[in-house]
Amino acid sequence: METRSQWGTRAGFILAAVGSAVGLGNIWRFPAVAYENGGGAFFIPYLFALLTAGIPILILEFTIGHKHRGSAPLSYRRMNKKTEWIGWWQVLVAFVISTYYSVIIAWAIMYSIYSFNLNWGEDTESFLFNDYLNLAAPGEIGGLVPSVLIPLIVVWVVVLGILFKGVKKGIEVANRIFIPALVIIFLVIVIRAVTLPGATAGLDAFFAPDFSKILEPDVWVAAYGQIFFSLSIAFAIMITYSSYLPKKSDITNNAFITGFANSSFELLCGIGVFAVLGFMATQQGVAVSDVVAGGVGLAFVVFPQIINQFPALNELFGFLFFASLVLAGLTSLMSITETYVAGLVDKFKISRSKAVLFGGGLAAVISLLFATRGGLNFLDSVDYFINQFGVAFVGLVEVIVVAWILRKIGDFKSHANGISDIKLGSWWTISLGIITPIVLGYTMYGLFAQNLQKQFDTDSGNYGNYSDSFIFYAGWIVALGVIVVGVLLSLAKWKTPQAEKTDSEAREAK
Ligand code: ALA
Repeated sequence: METRSQWGTRAGFILAAVGSAVGLGNIWRFPAVAYENGGGAFFIPYLFALLTAGIPILILEFTIGHKHRGSAPLSYRRMNKKTEWIGWWQVLVAFVISTYYSVIIAWAIMYSIYSFNLNWGEDTESFLFNDYLNLAAPGEIGGLVPSVLIPLIVVWVVVLGILFKGVKKGIEVANRIFIPALVIIFLVIVIRAVTLPGATAGLDAFFAPDFSKILEPDVWVAAYGQIFFSLSIAFAIMITYSSYLPKKSDITNNAFITGFANSSFELLCGIGVFAVLGFMATQQGVAVSDVVAGGVGLAFVVFPQIINQFPALNELFGFLFFASLVLAGLTSLMSITETYVAGLVDKFKISRSKAVLFGGGLAAVISLLFATRGGLNFLDSVDYFINQFGVAFVGLVEVIVVAWILRKIGDFKSHANGISDIKLGSWWTISLGIITPIVLGYTMYGLFAQNLQKQFDTDSGNYGNYSDSFIFYAGWIVALGVIVVGVLLSLAKWKTPQAEKTDSEAREAK
């Protein structure tokens, strides 16, 4: 008997998929990545990656999950016994991401509280690194930071509590509340942002194209990396979510809606962020390029400064901004965590509650590392490596295996076309079979070569200027470790003999 959980409604599934896609990647990552990689010119590789990799892979993953009705490891196993490890690799990438993603949400919770009194003061940089995080040198762990630990516990209690309740009563209900709230808050912020004095200077800087960048391979890697992370593809999420779709479901249309909703939100974030950066630059009489910062710096250093200078309602806008990070982050973290909950349930035949407790509990314990005084350094390095050599790399392996080794594109195309309004044509086949393997393969090769050279060549600086040994264990070992553990998990015995049947075995049994 089929007892797999199911979404209650189509809208519920779409909201959950959009909730997964829209996350910290949209609000704090995209604006800085776009700006660093050529501003307006970045939109060319970004759109290219969206249309030839992002949406095609999203359709592929929705199809895989829907057809095989399993977590990523089970779905890959049903495709072919030898590819189960890819499913585990993706699940473990998600596992690692969840351990630090939760910590960034914890910071955002604390900062939304700090907003009430603008506790960060004038020197927001020193506040973040010294007063709040009490940052230790790279490689040092230091003690746990209580003001990170406490909100981190809250994050895990909320997320695991929602997952305990299940797909329909937990994830679907939470997204129905969080996503509309997020959209409303964000619209308020963006409307305020674009009406601030100086906003147009920021938007000019954001959209002004620097075409000299467009031929640099790094820019293309950045575009693919952004699309993969932001669309939640290649790390088991969308396969898991679509495995809960009822048999009669549209796939292609849902993927287009999810993809375009995510990119629209991303663009809105870019506009909002650059409008306020323009405002700040104008207030200080400097260029926008002097006030832009990436990642942590943008959300937790520059934003508090901007909030300080707001003409009115500073505390309210501070709270709204950090609350939007919390909401966007929570709906994504649910989906990231659900990948390994589903994997454990499928493979080891344990109850959902046990899987949430064990999988989520282990992730929560490991996340404590990032809540220590040295946490930010580990987070920075792990984030870079797991994105480039985890998400983007496994995405490349996924398309090569599906398109070229298992030659499943035709099968999946008929499956999707059989149930969807929009029919897939050669655009989809060519994107997955030819364009993505070539463009992503070429850029990945360049990225590997560049980072390995940095590791072994004493003259060139590593990522983030960390030491070779730090990058080795907080970077390479993590990216490689998830592959090794993935292979080991795939070798473990299935506790559900029926579930593990491959496509061809299932056909023979009929
Ligand atoms: N897709 C999620 C994000 O953008 C993981 O943050």
